[in-house]
Parts: sequence; structure tokens; C-alpha cells
Amino acid sequence: MPDFDVVLVNVDKTFDGDVRAVIDFNAEIEHGEFVAMLGPSGCGKTTTLRMIGGLEEVTEGKIYIAGQDVTDLAPSQRDTSMMFQSFALFPHRTVHQNVEFSLKVKGIERGERDRQVGEMLQMVSLDELADRYPRDLSGGQQQRVALARALISKPTVLLLDEPLGALDYSLRQQMMVELKKIQRELGITFIMVTHSQQEAMSMADKVIVMSDAIIQQTGTSREIYEAPRTRFVADFIGNNNVFEGTIQSRSGSIVFVESDDGHLFYVRAHHDDNRAVEIGRRAHFSVRADLVHAGVHAGMANQVEGSYVATEFLGSLETDVFEVGGGVLVHVEQHRSASDRSYEMGDRETICWPAEAAVLLLD
Ligand SMILES: Nc1ncnc2c1ncn2[C@@H]1O[C@H](COP(=O)(O)OP(=O)(O)OP(=O)(O)O)[C@@H](O)[C@H]1O
Ligand SMILES: [Mg+2]
Repeated sequence: MPDFDVVLVNVDKTFDGDVRAVIDFNAEIEHGEFVAMLGPSGCGKTTTLRMIGGLEEVTEGKIYIAGQDVTDLAPSQRDTSMMFQSFALFPHRTVHQNVEFSLKVKGIERGERDRQVGEMLQMVSLDELADRYPRDLSGGQQQRVALARALISKPTVLLLDEPLGALDYSLRQQMMVELKKIQRELGITFIMVTHSQQEAMSMADKVIVMSDAIIQQTGTSREIYEAPRTRFVADFIGNNNVFEGTIQSRSGSIVFVESDDGHLFYVRAHHDDNRAVEIGRRAHFSVRADLVHAGVHAGMANQVEGSYVATEFLGSLETDVFEVGGGVLVHVEQHRSASDRSYEMGDRETICWPAEAAVLLLD
């Protein structure tokens, strides 16, 4: 297995009492990759991370780290380090002593310890705070101490469980950039668990979307954003309009889906799964809100009539919401300029999008 740092093959975890926490998890993670496991609470993220780190036994399947089968090895025999969901610093030790701890346990001598800790504190921009105690640090600074402590052993793989979970919005934005920068500089493989799609999409090279113990989709942020594979992913990633209908016909990679009120839509079938495109099958498809237009536009293969319901604001972006047939709400996201039409409740408008904007979903 060339260059894969972490490989999981058909990994299952069932807890006592028949709780199936992880089902048939497969992943190949390359050296130096930043991977995010993304999904709602309880979907099995922490359990998967703990199995990689050896803190939880697998019920079924194999785990390889740097080409070695580690399935039955203890945590200390794996080249991983973990930053826990709720990390605890030693309160009576300084920043320097907190970071130094694992080097001391390993019996590394003082001069070498000081050198390595100094370097690491510089890396996370804490060198000036080396003598402070945790209680005298901000939340973000404490987070960086925990990060430095996990990184000091120079693991092949760092496992991070919601590393930014406890931080407020602006600190989180700042730490996202720093974490990514540190990962790049060290070239260490990071596997990070998060339930925030923004964190996953902005930091990770590869995103694994999970729900209910299974992987829904693995891909780059762009792939997941532009071509969600399942209905769950389309809903969870946000910014997607999901429609339902019956598959009428197929022409190459384009499928024609008829909605219950008789509209025919062009939909891109990007799956090799032929089951998903059977004629007569009920199907969902999604269209990103930023690819939908209000008003009549030339060259748009898909068109429906709707009535205006509301407008949602987010900075310079505005999302107009229209109700189309069958009570479906369609979000139309656009950058507003002063000359654009403004709507009154109930106004009729044409909503359209190009053929390739719609993606067929698996349920
Ligand atoms: N030791 C355990 N014994 C029994 N069930 C467990 C145990 N640990 C976790 N579970 C169950 O396994 C499932 C997955 O839990 P896990 O902690 O992996 O979720 P998570 O995705 O990390 O959620 P969160 O985002 O809330 O941290 C949950 O249903 C949970 O209740
Ligand atoms: Mg968790």
C-alpha cells in the first residue's frame, strides 16, 4: 500500500447492547493529508477516531498505519497521537511543562527536551507564554498548548477530536487558519473530527461525511459541494435545493425527472450506480442555491414558476425564497445590486437553472 499512512478496511464497531456505532468503514488516507470526518452528533466519528488510535477495539475489519497491520496493537505501539474532544491540561504545570511531559516520560534529557519544546512553542506561537499556567491563558491559547502537547512526540498521524469545538466564532476562524498552517509546515497526517461543515470544507484536503454509523460520501470539499452523492449529504452540506420526482427517461449521463405537478427536469446522473437511474423510479435531485436564477434567463434548461415567500440576508449575499409546486421551497442565492428587482410577498416569478446544475441523489 504505497504512501498510505492510514487504511481502514471494512471496519465495524458494535458496543455491548447491540449499539452499531460504525458500519463497514473504508478509507485510504495518504501521507500528509488533512482529512475531516464530518457528521452529526452520535454518527460514530469519535468511535472511528479512537479505533484508529487503538483506544477502542474494532469488532470487525482491519486498520493499517504506515503499511503495518495495527488492528491488535496497543495505542503506545501505534505511531499516533490524539487530541481529545475535551482535552485537559495539567493545571499545576506551566505551558512549557505541559508540552514537555511526554518527552520526560520517554526519558529524553533536559537540554534536548528544552530545545524540542522551544521549537514546538514557537510553531504554535506560544513561545512568549512558556512560563504561564493554563488558568492564565485564553481558550485559544489553551487549545494551542493541547495541540503542541499532542504534536511534541512527532507522530505519523495526529488524531483531533473537535479541536476547535470549545472556541467562540472569531477565535475558531483564526485557529482554522493556524491549524492548517501548522499541519502544512509539519507535513503530518491529520485526521480531524468535526460536526461543522465549514471547518471540514475549509481545512481538509479530503472530507468523509458520515451519518448513522455509515460513510455517506468521501471526496474533496469541492466534490462534496458540487456533486453531493446522497440526499443526506445534500441536506447536511446546506445551500442545496432538493426536489423529488419520477425518472422518465435517460440520455447518456442526463436523466429526465418529472415532478408530481408535471414539470420535466434535466438532471445529471454522475453515479455509475445504474439502480439509481431506473426508469419509473422515485428519485431526489439537488441544485445548489447559487446556481439558481430568478427571472427568465436564456439557455436555462430547467424552469419553474414560483411565488415569493421571504428573503434571507448574509452580508452581501441575499437568498430569495420561492414556493413552487407541491409546497417545495426553492432558495435562490445571489449578490444583490441596487438595480435588482425587489419582491413583495406572493409575487410570481420564473425560477431557472442550467441542465448541468442538477445532480441526481441516492437515498
Ligand atoms: N462505550 C460505549 N458504549 C456504548 N455505546 C457507545 C459507547 N461509546 C459510544 N457509543 C455510542 O456509539 C454511537 C457513536 O458515538 P460517537 O461518540 O462515536 O459519536 P460522535 O459522532 O463522536 O458524536 P458527537 O458529535 O456527539 O461527539 C452513539 O450512539 C453512542 O451513544
Ligand atoms: Mg464525538
